[in-house]
Amino acid sequence: MLIDAAALRQDFPALRQPVADRRRIYLDSAYTSYMPSIVQEVLDNYHRQSRRAFYRLDPAHSHSLQVARGTVGSFIGASAEEVVFMRNGTEAINLVAGAWGRVNLRRGDLIVVSRLEHHSNLTPWQLLTREVGAELAFIELLPDGSLDLCSLDRHLATGRVKLVATAHISNVLGTLTPVAEITRRAHAMGSVVLLDAAQSVPHVPVDVRALDVDFVAFTAHKMLGPTGIGVLYGKRSVLEMMPPFLASGSVADQVGYRESIWKKPPARFEPWAPPSADAEALAAAVRYLQGVGMEAVAEHGRTLVRYALHELAQIDGLTIYGPRERGPIVAFTLEGISSSKVAALLGRQGIVIRAGLHNAQPLHQYLSLAATARVSFYLYNAEHEIDTLADALVTLVAKAAGRK
Ligand SMILES: Cc1ncc(COP(=O)(O)O)c(C=O)c1O
Repeated sequence: MLIDAAALRQDFPALRQPVADRRRIYLDSAYTSYMPSIVQEVLDNYHRQSRRAFYRLDPAHSHSLQVARGTVGSFIGASAEEVVFMRNGTEAINLVAGAWGRVNLRRGDLIVVSRLEHHSNLTPWQLLTREVGAELAFIELLPDGSLDLCSLDRHLATGRVKLVATAHISNVLGTLTPVAEITRRAHAMGSVVLLDAAQSVPHVPVDVRALDVDFVAFTAHKMLGPTGIGVLYGKRSVLEMMPPFLASGSVADQVGYRESIWKKPPARFEPWAPPSADAEALAAAVRYLQGVGMEAVAEHGRTLVRYALHELAQIDGLTIYGPRERGPIVAFTLEGISSSKVAALLGRQGIVIRAGLHNAQPLHQYLSLAATARVSFYLYNAEHEIDTLADALVTLVAKAAGRK
């Protein structure tokens, strides 16, 4: 193990709070992660010290926002000007649909998404296709839950694909999608690529230049940062060609009665008072992750997920969904016990997991599943927590069998 999770946990006071009088075993970081105290302190200090009502006049404010932008940009291999602060990942995707899609898509065009998308990377495209008369097409899944790139090729071969939008890591199956390859194929056919990196930026090194994607959306609250801030990365050349998403005086250099001259990106896409406190806290979360090292975070995730796959596979009546090589997420069902009941019963033992559709209802329909239970890991989790989970599941199965 490259990470000493026990030592690291000391940085996360919330993890020390018991659940149901038991030691908290938090296995739901794919939903939201905890903040280390250092990030919490940045937030608290900001609100305590700087009542920055006149933020636009405060040079310290704009400087720290720019520093935060640069920190977040360099974390993903981008420049500060390519980082747009949004309210979350969902809004980032909606910006691309609204500002890029409305201008660049017409009747007959195709938007390709995979079958495993989170609702946030599906519903904006549904609205857009209706509005402009374009259509949605899907990258199918292979039996193990990985992407069938032949189906992507078939869509690309029509010459109608303008956008391919895919998750980097599925929030249900853990599938790691082959982004660089998808981008290579999509670009060769003139399509733009959007990456929903909500589940990958927190867990694996992401380099937007190496992946060559045009847009990337992700969110702070899954990567040790606060809620209420997300990021849209856009290639500078692409952002420069886009109109604002939400218009206001703040996104314009000059406003006339009929026309306005828009600011350069990223200011063109940030019509509100800058989310300075959250941006600084996100930057602190990035520095924390960089301090641990993203290669170590990724290796820790791989170790835990392999261990979990091995341990859970031993349990009678438990079915795991998704490929072997994956992000730190495992969705499963237990024969004879509903997923919501599994989550509730584990919760009574201090083990926090999630059950339901995980904002991926079409994927569950595609797999003919009513719901799944999902465990997910982060840098503060350890193998012994997976042992406790596995023991608790074995007991649930035994009790359910006893009742038959
Ligand atoms: C794959 C994926 N995409 C998008 C989102 C939405 O992120 P946000 O909460 O920032 O809107 C999530 C959140 O669960 C997700 O897992």
